[in-house]
Amino acid sequence: MANGKIAWIIGGGSGIGAAVAHRLADAGWTVAISGRRVEKLEEVAKDRDIHPFPLDVTDGHAIADTIKSIVAAHGRIDLGLFSAAAWQPMEVGDYDFKKFHTIVDTNLLGVIRMANPLIAQLERQGGGQFAVIASVAGYFGLPRSAAYSSTKAALINLLETMRTELAPKNIKVRMIAPGFVKSELTDKNDFPMPFLMETDDAAKRIVDGLTGSDSFEIAFPRRMVWLMKTIRFLPYPVFFWLTAKMLPKEKGR
Ligand SMILES: NC(=O)c1ccc[n+]([C@@H]2O[C@H](COP(=O)([O-])OP(=O)(O)OC[C@H]3O[C@@H](n4cnc5c(N)ncnc54)[C@H](OP(=O)(O)O)[C@@H]3O)[C@@H](O)[C@H]2O)c1
Repeated sequence: MANGKIAWIIGGGSGIGAAVAHRLADAGWTVAISGRRVEKLEEVAKDRDIHPFPLDVTDGHAIADTIKSIVAAHGRIDLGLFSAAAWQPMEVGDYDFKKFHTIVDTNLLGVIRMANPLIAQLERQGGGQFAVIASVAGYFGLPRSAAYSSTKAALINLLETMRTELAPKNIKVRMIAPGFVKSELTDKNDFPMPFLMETDDAAKRIVDGLTGSDSFEIAFPRRMVWLMKTIRFLPYPVFFWLTAKMLPKEKGR
């Protein structure tokens, strides 16, 4: 049964965003979903109270216009969730500018483009939730992940700032940090992914965290989170000894 709450998920056409959209809709939310591929959005929206609003997060006007359209159609936005990302492994030293640009433009600047118009809307309606999927990959600089890992670190830092600043406006900022989850994003990985989770399991933990707690950080699975946080706080000589082991072995050795 409808609960009158409205969620908007950018990146709702696949993976974690799509699974969160399904869970929220099944719990009575009306859900708006965005992404570039219209056919993916339509597939996710089928037979549920889910509504596609296609956009590209590199287009700030499209984001602002989409917020207006969602509010015109559904009245408000109780929860905005940014679940879009670009990811490509980078070989050591191959900091291809074009790849780097796409990843920063999507993962970090996409959130910045969403921030002003969404915060303005949340303020107008008296509050709401501003949630972003970062990653445990943002806890420290992961080898082979230069662009992706640094955007996730920047997001964690940015969201910490926003949490403090927006609390007095009754806007709850959430930082979601999953470990490895099965999705289109991880399908391209050719390395071992410890504690790999099913998409729906990740979505359950996110929805439980967003609807059943006030915590800033929604991070899982616990073993992965503690492993990454422990590595983060190791003294640098030990830290670099360990991260060097994450590099692929050079051919011929
Ligand atoms: N899977 C994991 O192991 C894992 C772990 C930690 C964090 N995360 C994070 O979880 C979030 C969801 O990822 P996922 O694993 O579910 O991967 P996914 O299935 O690839 O989802 C990413 C979504 O982002 C959308 N997107 C990408 N570029 C976009 C753009 N320029 N404009 C609008 N939408 C765009 C894609 O849709 P279109 O291509 O149709 O635009 C896609 O639906 C991401 O923030 C990711 O970094 C994932």
